[in-house]
Amino acid sequence: MKLQDQIDLNKLPRHLAVIMDGNGRWAKQKGLFRTMGHEKGTKAVREIVEACTELNISYLTLYAFSTENWNRPKMEVDLLMKLLVSSLKKEIDTLQENNIKLNAIGNLESLPKKVHKELIDVIKKTETNDRMTLTLALSYGSREELTKTIKEISHKVKNNLISPENIDETVINNHLYTRNLPDVDLLIRTSGEHRISNFLLWQIAYAELYFTETLWPDYTKTHLFEAIINYQNRERRFGKTSEQLKE
Ligand code: IPE
Ligand code: IPE
Ligand code: MG
Repeated sequence: MKLQDQIDLNKLPRHLAVIMDGNGRWAKQKGLFRTMGHEKGTKAVREIVEACTELNISYLTLYAFSTENWNRPKMEVDLLMKLLVSSLKKEIDTLQENNIKLNAIGNLESLPKKVHKELIDVIKKTETNDRMTLTLALSYGSREELTKTIKEISHKVKNNLISPENIDETVINNHLYTRNLPDVDLLIRTSGEHRISNFLLWQIAYAELYFTETLWPDYTKTHLFEAIINYQNRERRFGKTSEQLKE
């Protein structure tokens, strides 16, 4: 049986998030500049978006640039920003054809003007699409997000818009960049690193974690199908006992 046919379409992760890592090492292994790895990485993005659309996954979130990535050499940061603009320009038609809504999370104001403008433009153009929400995490860091959230809620308390007793998980959720997204079900990280690197700390509280050695530029639909099949064979207990789930 084909790998794709082994996927149970009734048990798909509703929200899939990916830490796309290993572009630099992929290039280094081939004696190329790191930037070539990033360029090849955009091809893997296209392939994975296509696969998720075919499977009808509702939410796909991709970690594309972290708050810490600003500390990389300027030349690499500039290239990544350029690549982002050209990819957005190139992919807008595909997003429209496939009814995909683009969304972004992170400190978007810190992005260069050109990137910000292009991003907002594509977000606006695709805002009524409803087959899949594709979220790009850009200049995203969970600690920055949580700090911002605490600040905003504190201001509301100070101005008597909310009382401290009424702060609950829903209130916190509603102040996060991800307020319109459900919790993450499956988080994939490529390149053999076993860490979260400041990505969606609150939102992955009960996500299934999947790590693979494959470097992001080599990541294909087959790798994704393997990850989903692995996810479907797990028992998500959410603190309950296995017996309770069968009741
Ligand atoms: C992921 O690949 C892309 C970004 C973080 C922007 P890396 O550039 O981190 O590649 P490695 O980890 O150095 O191999
Ligand atoms: C995480 O990868 C960020 C993205 C994939 C965008 P990094 O390569 O920046 O993570 P660390 O520094 O190895 O933890
Ligand atoms: Mg890396």
